[in-house]
This record gives sequence, C-alpha cells and structure tokens, in this order.
Amino acid sequence: MKLCMIGTGYVGLVSGTCFADLGNQVYCVDKDISKINKLNLGISPIYEPGLDELIKKNYSAKRLIFTTDLKKAVTSSNIIFICVGTPNKKKTLSVDLSYVFKSIKEIIGVSNGKKIIVTKSTVPVGTGDEIEKIIKKKNKKNFYEIISNPEFLREGEAIRDFRFPDRIVVGSNNKKIFRTMKLLYSPLINKGAKFFTTSRKGAELIKYASNAFLATKITFVNELANLCEKTNINIQDISLGMGFDSRIGSRFLRAGPAYGGSCFPKDTKGLVAAADKYKINLTVVKSVIKSNEKRVILHTKRIDKILNYKIKNKIIAFLGVTFKPNTDDMRDSTSLTMIPYLCKKGAKVSYYDPTGKKKEFSKLKNCTYEKNIKDNCKNADLVILHTEWDEFKIFNFNKKIRNKKLKIYDLRNLYDFEEMIKKKISYYSIGRPDIN
Ligand SMILES: NC(=O)c1ccc[n+]([C@@H]2O[C@H](COP(=O)([O-])OP(=O)(O)OC[C@H]3O[C@@H](n4cnc5c(N)ncnc54)[C@H](O)[C@@H]3O)[C@@H](O)[C@H]2O)c1
Repeated sequence: MKLCMIGTGYVGLVSGTCFADLGNQVYCVDKDISKINKLNLGISPIYEPGLDELIKKNYSAKRLIFTTDLKKAVTSSNIIFICVGTPNKKKTLSVDLSYVFKSIKEIIGVSNGKKIIVTKSTVPVGTGDEIEKIIKKKNKKNFYEIISNPEFLREGEAIRDFRFPDRIVVGSNNKKIFRTMKLLYSPLINKGAKFFTTSRKGAELIKYASNAFLATKITFVNELANLCEKTNINIQDISLGMGFDSRIGSRFLRAGPAYGGSCFPKDTKGLVAAADKYKINLTVVKSVIKSNEKRVILHTKRIDKILNYKIKNKIIAFLGVTFKPNTDDMRDSTSLTMIPYLCKKGAKVSYYDPTGKKKEFSKLKNCTYEKNIKDNCKNADLVILHTEWDEFKIFNFNKKIRNKKLKIYDLRNLYDFEEMIKKKISYYSIGRPDIN
C-alpha cells in the first residue's frame, strides 16, 4: 500500500519504517528540515535500538522516502497517518491539538482524490469529530474517511512492539474501512496480533484509558513502597506476591521514581481534562497525577536525608538521565526536576548517559557531563542510579571507585540487595531497608 506519515518523531518514524519493512511504500514527512536532512543521510534523529539498520535497509530499497514535500507525499498515498505531537497546553491539563488540526488543514490544502486519514497521535475523545467538522467547512467531506488507530509502542522496545503488538485497535464509524486496515496489518495479524475494531471515539478512549491504568498501577506500587520503607519490608516481595495473581499480573508493578516520559504524564492529564469537559470527575486518575507529582519532591527530600542535610558542595553523580533506558527521550524525566534542584542547593552534579550530553542541563551552573561511568562516579559522595541501563547493572563499584565513603541511591532497585550488604556499600533504594 502507499502510506504517508505526517510527523517523523518517535511514533511516525518507527511505525513508518516498520510499515515500509512490511513491503509498503512509505513517505515520512516532517516540518523539521534538519530531521529530514539527517534521515536522508542515513542518520536517525532519535535513539531507538535496531532503528538505524531498518531505516537503511528500507531507504535503499526505495520503500522509505523522507521529505518535506507534503504535496508529493499526500498525492502519492492512499492512507495518511497523523503522527504529530499532542502535548498539554501550558499550565493546564488539556491537550493542545493545534499540531493535529494544522496538519489536517495542510493535507486538505494539497490533497487529490479520496484518502483515509488515520489519527495515530494520542487524541482526546471526539477529536475525530472535530477533524470532520474542519473538513466539512471546506466542503470536502466526501473525499475523506477519518479513523483512529492509536499507537501503543514503547520507546526502547518500539520495533518489537510494532512487530508483535498485543493488539491493533482501529476505530471507525464506517465499517467498510476495517477491511483496508486489516489488509494493511495482515502480516502482523497472521503472526497472532489481535485486530480489534470499535467506534472512532471508542478507539480514542482506549488509548487514554490504557495509559491512565498503567500509570495508576505504577503509582499504586510506588505508594506501597513508601509504606515498605517505614516497615522494613522489601517492596519486591510484595510486587512478586501480588503479581502471581493472574487477575493482577506482574508487569508495571516495579516500584521506582515518579513515572515520566512523553506519554503517561500528559495522557493522564489529557484524560482528566476530556472527562471534565463532559462533567465527569475521574477522581482516581486525578489522585494518581497528584501522587506522582509529589513523588519527585519525596526523592529530593530523601537525598537531603542521605547526605545528612548537607547538600552544599557535595558531589552527586547521576547514572542515566532519560526517563527510561534504551531511549534518548528526556520528556518529563524526573531528572529534569531533581538535577536543577540539587544544583540550586549548591551540589556539584555530574551525569553520564549512554545517549550523550543533554541540552536540558547545558545552562545549569555546577552541572557537568562525563563521558563514562567511572569518571562520573570516581569522586562522588553520592551516586544516583536514575535510569536502569544494562551497563550500569554490571558496573563494579568496589573495584572501580576508590571512594570508600561512596553512597548509592538506587531509584530503580537495579542492584541486588544482598550483594550491596556483602560489598559494604551505603545503599539506599526504593521500598527496601537502607544499608548504612
Ligand atoms: N513517543 C511515544 O512513545 C508514543 C507512543 C504512543 C503514542 N504516542 C503519541 O504519538 C504522537 C506523536 O508522539 P511522538 O513522541 O512521536 O512526538 P515527536 O514530538 O517525537 O514527533 C512529532 C513530529 O511531528 C512533527 N510535526 C509537527 N507538526 C507537523 C506538521 N504539520 N507536518 C509535519 N510534521 C509535523 C514535528 O516536527 C515532530 O518531528 C503523540 O500524540 C503521542 O502522544 C507517542
């Protein structure tokens, strides 16, 4: 099939490349010329394991085209996927749909003939209806089918998630369209992916409901971890003991820092705002948002305590700053709150991240980037394990770091508790007793 992805970010680039790998011809369009130039040089603008190879393979097979030429891309395609960002509006919970609506107007400005327009971006209930209104105003209703096909891939696992999804959700008010979408996804359906069809609004809500539920699960276990810290219980035993129950399931039951990333914070807020519009009070999700926001403050207070309330001039080394491993995405990462706070308090903060230096910290006084784990940690008073990359797991602190007074604060419970006792490291983790 001939496809066009509008927006070549984490979702548009990965799904576009994977669609091309299934044999489709895919135009990837972006407003950001530097992204398109990089891609045409064979350089991926994002870090995602396995993506570079897949881009190169499909680019040289001429199935994958990167362009800023919207007209050429749209007129050459039958199905157009909207993959632009849907951030929260500044200082509110509601979703900024301006990128979506702008891209729709641009598409109808250059389009020819009949097209299926698919919202892959995460959009609030009723956005498809709003898009239809825009198209109706331009007297072009008969040319377009507007459907919803939310994306569930996770950064860091995105290619695997695209190829082996738990489910593919398609929402359309015109049932005839399901056949075309089923054909597009048939290579994945044949391998066992569930193809689930519903109304357009239903699909829009499934995406928000899924993310809000996962955020709730994480927040629930994070709050339990607070209780475990006070009662000398290991949260990992609680997660395991609960997770064996198939009604509960073990995934997303790992205690850690506040959830971050490009989806959970904005989608929990987006769902609350959408419900508020219909005068429905989603109290559970509202308290999840509050609890998560408080959690970052809790971490900074804990650091204060670990350093005996003497942060000034202490050397604090962060291992990883992205919101999770195997991605370079910094959006809503807890490090964005923690590092500026510590710098303001007079600490000397250094960080190492496998995806490199971050522009987000470039203006901070007292914050430096180190090129490897050893240089980052060698003089530290406190190491904060922020993101659980594999290379941090195997690092031998006792052998490589001379500082015998080293303290580690492990926000991901990455290190084995018994091992830390054996190594006599002052070790603080989440929902487990302190070792000091
Ligand atoms: N990142 C994820 O893991 C993930 C997972 C599932 C769903 N989503 C959803 O997918 C959507 C996109 O997320 P993302 O993380 O890929 O965003 P992103 O910011 O990485 O990418 C969006 C891209 O769209 C481009 N763009 C904006 N307006 C444009 C226009 N009119 N024409 C062409 N290009 C335009 C931007 O330049 C940018 O490159 C969001 O709604 C998000 O909630 C994201």
